[in-house]
Amino acid sequence: MKVLVIGGGAREHALCRSLSLDSAVSALYCAPGNAGIAEVAELRPVDALDGAAVAALATELEADLVVVGPEAPLVAGVADAVRAAGIPVFGPSAEAAQLEGSKAFAKDVMAAAGVPTARSYVCTTPEEVDEALDAFGAPYVVKDDGLAAGKGVVVTEDLAVARAHALGCDRVVIEEYLDGPEVSLFAITDGVTVVPLQPAQDFKRALDGDEGPNTGGMGAYSPLPWADPKLVDEVMELVLQPTVDELRRRGTPFSGLLYAGLAITSRGTRVIEFNARFGDPETQVVLARLRTPLAGVLLGAAKGTLEAVPPLVWREDAAVTVVIASHNYPETPRTGDPIEGLAEVAAEDGPDAYVLHAGTRHEGDAVVSAGGRVLSVTATGSDLAQAREKAYKAVARIRLDGSQHRTDIAAKAAEGR
Ligand code: AMP
Ligand code: GLY
Repeated sequence: MKVLVIGGGAREHALCRSLSLDSAVSALYCAPGNAGIAEVAELRPVDALDGAAVAALATELEADLVVVGPEAPLVAGVADAVRAAGIPVFGPSAEAAQLEGSKAFAKDVMAAAGVPTARSYVCTTPEEVDEALDAFGAPYVVKDDGLAAGKGVVVTEDLAVARAHALGCDRVVIEEYLDGPEVSLFAITDGVTVVPLQPAQDFKRALDGDEGPNTGGMGAYSPLPWADPKLVDEVMELVLQPTVDELRRRGTPFSGLLYAGLAITSRGTRVIEFNARFGDPETQVVLARLRTPLAGVLLGAAKGTLEAVPPLVWREDAAVTVVIASHNYPETPRTGDPIEGLAEVAAEDGPDAYVLHAGTRHEGDAVVSAGGRVLSVTATGSDLAQAREKAYKAVARIRLDGSQHRTDIAAKAAEGR
């Protein structure tokens, strides 16, 4: 099977790594990719947002499967363009990707499907904003309706800050604050059959102790020893299957990866958000634990034959990933700095610890930083404590001037807290 992966972050590196280990994959391409992905896939330049260009590339490569990684191409209809060219594609249509592309659409689908989520108002005028903020009280949760690369959500005790964010958006969702730990649960679906993956937890704040600004994600781990063993079954029944059924009922079936961001509140599990693609950095730890070869599962979702795919098999191992970010991330990050120590990790720590590249590129023989999140250092171990130890040992070998990482990824969970 020839597979083309669209994107170029750590999620795509994790996907390409798994696909490269799958004996069913005879050729693996990634467009545009990054310096790390180049070690496991052949890179091709492409504008990932240009559906016609992606479809042309897939046709030229005679791809049997195209996997679209990030949300922006999905919302832009790249999966539709590839499907129209007659090539199976893992990733939802533009219409179904509105589940991530519009918070208001997601709320509407959840209401229709009876999926538990925060109570909310969709506001378009300053009067509606004030009424909604007043109705819920602090802490205020204010979400830009559209795609905002993780920067559209403000959670604050400060009414003036909440109001200012709301008035800066054309359309805004204001909702009830949800208390309790967050869980990311992914499911692969062909629009009918839904196959849940293992839950993971992501660390969204920049600094240790969940301080500092929100980021795209600074680390993740899986499994969640503290979670109810029935969590996956419960979320399947209450959230994932009803959502997939509702989108099919509307004539916009969702195929690809349905990502449920959940809050485990004292009043039960609630959906915080949906995403229409694999989450980053959770994918790095979830795929590290998946034993089943990936290509056949993704192809089953793409072709509508997921029901025939055998149940997924998981490793007993735990996995941890620690993100190394650029100087000044999540503000305007500094890029172009050389990265050293990658060869040492490969020589000393493999195969249980490895570096996935998020934002990197080649500059001559050197690998340099090319984004806010630069590397996602991933390790597996017999439990979270061991996986953590291996990940941080590898992190310590990496030298990137001005870089930052959290030192407490999975620390509480590893200690049984
Ligand atoms: P989202 O982009 O919807 O995932 O929001 C980003 C982050 O904001 C989430 O991961 C939560 O930490 C936080 N958040 C979003 N909605 C709520 C809510 N209703 N209550 C509490 N925190 C929230
Ligand atoms: N880990 C958060 C996200 O992928 O949106």
